[in-house]
Amino acid sequence: MKYAIITGSSRGLGEAIAKRMLEEKVKVIGVARSENEEFKMLAKQLGGEYHFYPCNLASTTEIRSVFHEISELTFNEQTEQVYLINNAGMIEPIETAGQLDDHAIATNVQVNLTAPIQISNLILKNASESKTPLTIVNVTSGAAERPVHGWSLYCSTKAGINMFTKTTGLELENQQSQMKVIGYSPGIMDTEMQSTIRSSSEEAFAELDTFKGYKEKGMLRTPTVVANALVLLMLEGKVDNGKIYYVNDLI
Ligand SMILES: NC(=O)c1ccc[n+]([C@@H]2O[C@H](COP(=O)([O-])OP(=O)(O)OC[C@H]3O[C@@H](n4cnc5c(N)ncnc54)[C@H](OP(=O)(O)O)[C@@H]3O)[C@@H](O)[C@H]2O)c1
Repeated sequence: MKYAIITGSSRGLGEAIAKRMLEEKVKVIGVARSENEEFKMLAKQLGGEYHFYPCNLASTTEIRSVFHEISELTFNEQTEQVYLINNAGMIEPIETAGQLDDHAIATNVQVNLTAPIQISNLILKNASESKTPLTIVNVTSGAAERPVHGWSLYCSTKAGINMFTKTTGLELENQQSQMKVIGYSPGIMDTEMQSTIRSSSEEAFAELDTFKGYKEKGMLRTPTVVANALVLLMLEGKVDNGKIYYVNDLI
């Protein structure tokens, strides 16, 4: 039995990864605040297995209890492989430093950085204790590597997740572990996150016209294409610990 634990499974890239995993006969555990109702029917049609755990990743307490339950389901003697895809993310607040709201700062750091670290830590521990092969994918962004006017939180948290991925990858290599952790930079995709970006103000976000142009010129990839590239990489199993993979190099 193989399991894929996918955060942000309700829409966008997470939804597309979950669908593809079900098609590949991997049991899917979706995590988000809202449930995507399509999955129950899809799992039935494909003869697969799908579980949904509602969780607000802005709460460390909720994460602890929900991922404890998920671990009880996932780590057992029949489990051959677990994939953890830390995909959930948020772009807001889109605002220049000096104008940021305290609560919005804390939420962005929690959802984009603290949550994937907390979840990786918990799942690594359980996989190690039960000797279950594990591959973790942290979904990152090109914004981790270049400053974007108006995205100081998003750029910083994605840069943080890249460094967490590289450091954890180094530790796993030094421990000669069979467990893997990689990053995945998905490029620009036609999802709700891009609608949020296009609805921001020019004052707060200097590249507004460029991003509107991506949509108008059809330059945004579908999440399905981006998810398929990642799932193929994961199922092939030959990944380098700590490496950030770029969708453009995979398709
Ligand atoms: N779209 C792009 O062009 C692009 C580019 C580079 C990187 N990325 C990265 O790709 C990943 C997926 O993005 P996307 O474009 O698919 O975004 P999206 O369409 O906005 O979906 C975001 C997902 O994250 C979940 N989420 C957000 N806040 C949450 C919270 N507090 N608790 C639990 N779940 C939460 C949402 O579920 P609920 O609302 O149901 O909770 C949703 O399923 C993100 O990490 C993003 O940074 C996207």
